[in-house]
Amino acid sequence: MDPIAYVNGSFVPLADAKISVLDRGFLFADGIYEVSAVLDGKLVDNASHLARLQRSVGEIKLRLPETLDRITEIQKELIARNKLENGLVYLQVTRGADKSRDFPFPKADVKSSLVMFTSEKDIINAPVAKTGINVITVPDIRWERRDIKSVALLAQVLAKQVAAEAGAGEAWMLQDGYVTEGGSSTAFILTRDDVIVTRQNSNAILPGCTRKAVIALAQERQLRVEERSFTVAEALAAKEAFITSASAFVQPVIAVDGKTIGDGKPGPMATRLREIYVEFAKATAV
Ligand code: PDD
Repeated sequence: MDPIAYVNGSFVPLADAKISVLDRGFLFADGIYEVSAVLDGKLVDNASHLARLQRSVGEIKLRLPETLDRITEIQKELIARNKLENGLVYLQVTRGADKSRDFPFPKADVKSSLVMFTSEKDIINAPVAKTGINVITVPDIRWERRDIKSVALLAQVLAKQVAAEAGAGEAWMLQDGYVTEGGSSTAFILTRDDVIVTRQNSNAILPGCTRKAVIALAQERQLRVEERSFTVAEALAAKEAFITSASAFVQPVIAVDGKTIGDGKPGPMATRLREIYVEFAKATAV
């Protein structure tokens, strides 16, 4: 079956899903995106993703071309049309296509572009959940508003390419000696005294939806959570490490820059939090 995509009001075969070369997303990365997981044909934690979408577009004064309710309907129709059981829905909104390449916002009433497509992914049965991943570290060379889920991802592309070439599953980005986050995930450690540590939200990181859910689920179970920055040295001295994201849920990290964490195997806390998150995701998906 030919996958179906959504482009500005129409559901079209993916091969015909096209936008103008003058689209400001293409020319300036003037746009915002979101990725929601799909389990058993249902959207996982999607309200959280759409709330972050609304915040991101607000921060760059970009008007959504549809309401959040309509966006949810379109996501669901796309899942249905593609008969998607398990995978991801990607959505992107940009400041549209103007007549010319002018840096300031278009003056005319140029409509924002809204594009969506789906991809299949068996997140629950991903082999790396059992084996864990290695991460490598790179300097965080991104701009100062990483809280905005901008489509400007070149720094992450380069970071994740370094990881891929090193056979690692993720790149942890470093600033002033501290881990900010992964190229497309939030970084966590479990300290020797069983405290789950992840960096506090600020302009320095994306406020992860999975991060938020995992913290809440952990706290409900009386697990200790501290939101603060940590160094690579702390990660190496930790009992465990893991990452979270919509596309990986909770994934154990077993080594940083070739040095193992704990016994070099996925730890019980990461494994437990993954199970707890999957249970939450299944129970609340809509
Ligand atoms: N990335 N940090 C960064 C830089 C990210 O790109 C992502 C998500 C996260 C985790 O956020 P969430 O838990 O809301 O998915 C943290 C998505 C999955 C992507 O770019 O594909």
